[in-house]
Amino acid sequence: MDEQNPMSGPDQWESDLSRRYPAARTEAAADHSEADHSERAFRNHEAEARPSVKAFYRLNHQYQTVDFVRRKRDEFLSLDRQRMGIWEAMEFLNTLVDDSDPDTELSQIEHLLQAAEAIRADGHPRWFILTGLIHDLGKILCLFGEPQWAVVGDTFPVGCAFSSSIVYHDFFRLNSDWDHPVYSTQSGIYEPQAGLDHVMMSWGHDEYLYHVTKTYLPPEAQYMIRYHSFYPGHRENAYQHLFSDQDRRLFQWVRKFNPYDLYSKSDARPDVESLKPFYRELIDEFFPPELAW
Ligand SMILES: [Fe+2]
Repeated sequence: MDEQNPMSGPDQWESDLSRRYPAARTEAAADHSEADHSERAFRNHEAEARPSVKAFYRLNHQYQTVDFVRRKRDEFLSLDRQRMGIWEAMEFLNTLVDDSDPDTELSQIEHLLQAAEAIRADGHPRWFILTGLIHDLGKILCLFGEPQWAVVGDTFPVGCAFSSSIVYHDFFRLNSDWDHPVYSTQSGIYEPQAGLDHVMMSWGHDEYLYHVTKTYLPPEAQYMIRYHSFYPGHRENAYQHLFSDQDRRLFQWVRKFNPYDLYSKSDARPDVESLKPFYRELIDEFFPPELAW
C-alpha cells in the first residue's frame, strides 16, 4: 500500500459497490413497493465507505481529467505491450494478490470463474458466459504499474459536468476540470445525444479490455465489458442526454450483466482444474490463440 494505492487491492472497491448496492430483493420481497427499495438504496448510498476506499475515490475524482484520459488512451490503446491468449491473461491477472489476507481471499481466476459459472447456471448464451469470464481482465493494468484509481472505480464521462449522482461527488472539486468553461457544462465537449461511442469515459479496466476484445464479440458483450463500471449510467440513470437510442437499447444488457458482477462472489471455491476444459473450448470458439494487449 502507498499513497497512490490506498486500498488493499482493486477488489476492495467492488466490496464497496456491493455495500452501496445491496443484493436485489428476494422473490418473496418482490411484491413490496418500489418506494421501500429506493429508500433502502438511498441509505446505503449515503453511508460512509471505509477510509481506504474513500481515499481511493478522492484520488480517482481528483486525477481523472480530460488530459489524463487522453494520455492514457495514447499510452495503452495502441495495444503494443504484449501478445497473449485469454487464458494466459487470466493466469497473468492471477498474480495480482490482495494485500489484506492472501490466504483466505479467492484468487482472481476463481472470481472470474464464479461470475461465469453463475451466468452459465442461469442458462444464458455462450457469449454471455464468456463475457462473465473475461470482463475484469483489464485489471492487468495494475500489473503494468497503474495506480488503483486509474484501473477500477465507478466510471463516468470526462469533458462534461460530473453528475451529482456519482459517489463522493464533492471530491470533484479537486479535479482541475471542475471549473473549466466548457467541461463544466452539461454536455461539455459533446453534442447532446451524441452516443457513448463518442464520449470519453474516465480511464480504467473497462475501456482497456473493450479495445482488446471488441472485434471478437457481439455488441451486447462489448457494451457489458465497456460499461460494467459505469454505475452512474446503468444504476443511477445519469447522463441520459449523451445516450443514443442504441445505447439505451444495449444498456439493458449492461444491467442484465450487473448482478453477476456484484453478487456472484462467494467463499465457495470453484474447481479450476475441472472447469478448465469447458472454458478453454469456449475461449477458442470466439478468440484467436493470441490477442494484442
Ligand atoms: Fe470490473
